Amino acid sequence: MSLKKVSVIGAGNVGAEVANQLVCRELADVVLIDKLADWAKGKALDILTSASLKNSTSKIIGGDDYNLIKGSDIVIITAGMPRKPGMSREELIETNADIISGIVNNVKNLCAEAIIIMVTNPLDVMTYLAYKVSGFKPEKVIGMAGVLDTARFKTFIAEELNVSARDVNTMVLGGHGDEMVPLIDSTTISGIPLKQLADNETLEKLIERTRKGGAEVVSLLKTGSAYYAPAVSAVEMAETIIKDRKSILTASAFLSGQYGINNIYLGVPVILGSGGIEKVIEFNIGKKELEALQNSAGVVKDTIDKFEEAVNIIQ
Ligand code: NAI
Ligand code: 2OP
Repeated sequence: MSLKKVSVIGAGNVGAEVANQLVCRELADVVLIDKLADWAKGKALDILTSASLKNSTSKIIGGDDYNLIKGSDIVIITAGMPRKPGMSREELIETNADIISGIVNNVKNLCAEAIIIMVTNPLDVMTYLAYKVSGFKPEKVIGMAGVLDTARFKTFIAEELNVSARDVNTMVLGGHGDEMVPLIDSTTISGIPLKQLADNETLEKLIERTRKGGAEVVSLLKTGSAYYAPAVSAVEMAETIIKDRKSILTASAFLSGQYGINNIYLGVPVILGSGGIEKVIEFNIGKKELEALQNSAGVVKDTIDKFEEAVNIIQ
């Protein structure tokens, strides 16, 4: 059986680890593109030579030639600048918008049937930009953040309560920024409501740590931002699509009225399958959490509006 073809754009910290995981888990044949051709070739060669030791038959090639991405089933975009300590994700927009526009034009011309998974920050705005530049259907342009933010929230809950993170069932909705919305009301640990296991002060602390989860890593690393958990999160989405799992997970999706939000990309629960986002799930999250979600949507919308002219493509 031939493997799917996944192209990863950007062979930096996140992109290289995404490529490594795809090969390691034999999920696809991989193309790794970076503006630094030899860097991408070197990473690809290193990963390729590791494949046999992992019993994987996946192939990988690298370079800067976009013709290599022709016929890709999925394109995962990780190219662009990461944050430095003290920087917000929004501060990356001008540099990264130029980079993303160029890349998405290549995707549009060379693999018009592909599903795009966006990773580059500011995530919800870059996903919206990719949607606009590509002209693809909204279900085929998806942002990765909710899987990562949810994994962080699960980990922090598990640490606090001294239980297994695998037993925590929860979601983080909203934009991939400080206003993201870790859900409390619908969080359970092996079916037990979180609210019965933790007091309000602990819950607030968990929400705050999750919102600042990325910044906590940035401030420790001093240079660059998190990449192991982000890479595995993007690969989780790719695997869900490749295997047509129809899992419900959180992703940045185009909203047309769901949760009272229109015409932006924002983190919401979706059914992910071979068609990309097969459904945006709208459910009753309660008044307080809905207000927080709409507040987060307002921040994403403001960022889009603020940079509309600079980007010159978002309409
Ligand atoms: P990095 O700096 O390690 O890698 C970025 C790579 O992009 C570099 O190799 C660079 O040469 C390449 N690049 C730059 N311009 C390019 C172009 N025009 N064409 C092709 N390649 C180009 O950064 P890292 O840590 O891999 O992060 C990448 C992006 O992902 C950042 O914007 C970061 O903020 C974002 N990110 C998003 C997460 C999320 O949850 N959505 C989580 C982690 C990172
Ligand atoms: C993160 O959350 C920087 O967005 C990246 O780690």
